Amino acid sequence: MPVPPSRPSARFRAAAAILAAAVSIFSLRVFAQQKPESPSARAGAEAAARPWWQDAVFYEVYPRSFADSNNDGVGDLNGITSKLDYLHALGVDAIWITPCFPSPQVDFGYDVADYENIDPMYGTLADFDRLVAEARKRHIRVILDFVINHTSDKHPWFLDSESSRASAHRDWYVWRDGKPSADPSPPAQPPNNWQAIFGGSAWQLDPKTGQFYYHAFYPQQPDLNWRNPAVEKAMFDQTRFWFKRGVAGFRLDAVDTLFEDPALRDNPVLPGTNAFGQPRMEMKYTSKLPEVHDVLRNLRKVADEYGAVLIGETWTRNIDELKEYYGQHSSELQMPMDLMFTSVKTLSAPEFRRQIGAVDAAGGWPVYVISNHDIVRSYNRYGDGQHNEQIAKLMAAMYLTLRGSPILYYGEEIGMENNDPKSKDDVKDPIGRLGWPALKGRDGERTPMQWTPGPNAGFSTVASWLPVPPSAQTRNVESESGDPNSILNFYKRLLALRHTEKALLYGDYLALNPDDASVLSYLRRYKEETILVVLNFSAAPQTITFDLAPQGLGAAKVQTLLTSDTAQPASGSLRSVSLAPFSACIFRVSR
Ligand code: NOJ
Repeated sequence: MPVPPSRPSARFRAAAAILAAAVSIFSLRVFAQQKPESPSARAGAEAAARPWWQDAVFYEVYPRSFADSNNDGVGDLNGITSKLDYLHALGVDAIWITPCFPSPQVDFGYDVADYENIDPMYGTLADFDRLVAEARKRHIRVILDFVINHTSDKHPWFLDSESSRASAHRDWYVWRDGKPSADPSPPAQPPNNWQAIFGGSAWQLDPKTGQFYYHAFYPQQPDLNWRNPAVEKAMFDQTRFWFKRGVAGFRLDAVDTLFEDPALRDNPVLPGTNAFGQPRMEMKYTSKLPEVHDVLRNLRKVADEYGAVLIGETWTRNIDELKEYYGQHSSELQMPMDLMFTSVKTLSAPEFRRQIGAVDAAGGWPVYVISNHDIVRSYNRYGDGQHNEQIAKLMAAMYLTLRGSPILYYGEEIGMENNDPKSKDDVKDPIGRLGWPALKGRDGERTPMQWTPGPNAGFSTVASWLPVPPSAQTRNVESESGDPNSILNFYKRLLALRHTEKALLYGDYLALNPDDASVLSYLRRYKEETILVVLNFSAAPQTITFDLAPQGLGAAKVQTLLTSDTAQPASGSLRSVSLAPFSACIFRVSR
């Protein structure tokens, strides 16, 4: 059983609160004096009125796996601080750190036991403040993860809630009686058929009080009862704690599942079984209930007090659902993630064209993600085993040149691959143990960042909590820095273009050649500036023609700004653009 983190004493918390207040006043003053320079400042004054996050490239840091400063095999905050120069040189404007709060680590931090502290494994609040201050010096903002749907079962609110039916926090969680049964003997039956996303019933019986509590994920992650106004107030106050420390926004975890049907209606059963061998179900009464939007609107008001951004983990099935997360008159999330993008499993120009077109037209600010800590890395998802290097550059050229903000998962910039566990005994992620072998869990995409060709890829001097793959010998920051054609250097060039080309920063998106089955092409246009992006999603060379007469660019000249295939540079005529297999070309178009 995981050991609950020890609770700081009241005296310590009082002292910490005073210190926090002092630090926050200091931070806010420093922030005012030394406002991070946004990319737009580098590109000109055009975007002065734009919010900073529209010009920003975000980078997701999984703190266990980024950099280990104290060589205990697990990453930490000081490790992240030590890599800020690297992130700045790469062209990152904001880092999103997945949960680093005190936690029993059943779900590696997504089971929070204290929202206002740092897990000792990762460091201290002082380390966090130093990280924010050092990041700011490099014009990098810090985004934290807000685990809003549930707490850990070791959170003091839940410990009190489960202590008795009459406890002060009983109604902070979702407690219900079991299904009435004619047979009075145990075991008690759960209130209905709802299943946990991580397998098994979503109801856990508490023998002491004789009721079940609801958990959308693991039993150690009881769902908060967002119908209770005290929960909303307490949770919003947790965000203020971090905003005052200089945090620039939150990524909101699992927003879809904040509410459940109060009438506890059974979810409809679908044909077939899921990865845990249970009946498949439509989450009709447990996901995306309309009340979610009330909470998001209220939380947005809090974020607006601090000029902060809200990024949503929004698993939408269609564009209408995505639109709902922006809210009417942009009153909810500024940045709901388009995770539908990750469901395009094969390299398909028409599929990407369709998805990008729909997200671009949704009326909000697009957020593009190709990998994260829950999804097999894009290197494996899209790689064909033969052209993986080219495909990694191709994907980068796509999601980093679209209108919107990209979120780059650590290691994507060096072409990190999944390193899945080889046996059930090696698995750390509980889902991988529950679902083995159909589900191997998420360890594979969470392995340590590969910094050098040395032992443990330079992440740590001792064995790291997850092993690095053999390919780390060549696929690492040090080796790729020295190779002008590496994925890393391609990312750097792309991000530099993205920060300086006004058409890439502010331009609209216009799909070209809409019937081309192999090549995805689009223009980004801003005033007189036009950029053409051409992406060959096929294993064959392609030669294509553009007619830009409808755009008033019929006689335009093109200049190559960047190609992924330096051995075979693209020709510079709009009448005949030649592309090597899986290559990307970015051109400036001028009259
Ligand atoms: C989504 C997070 O990304 C994932 O890692 C976590 O397990 C679940 N939410 C539950 O918090």
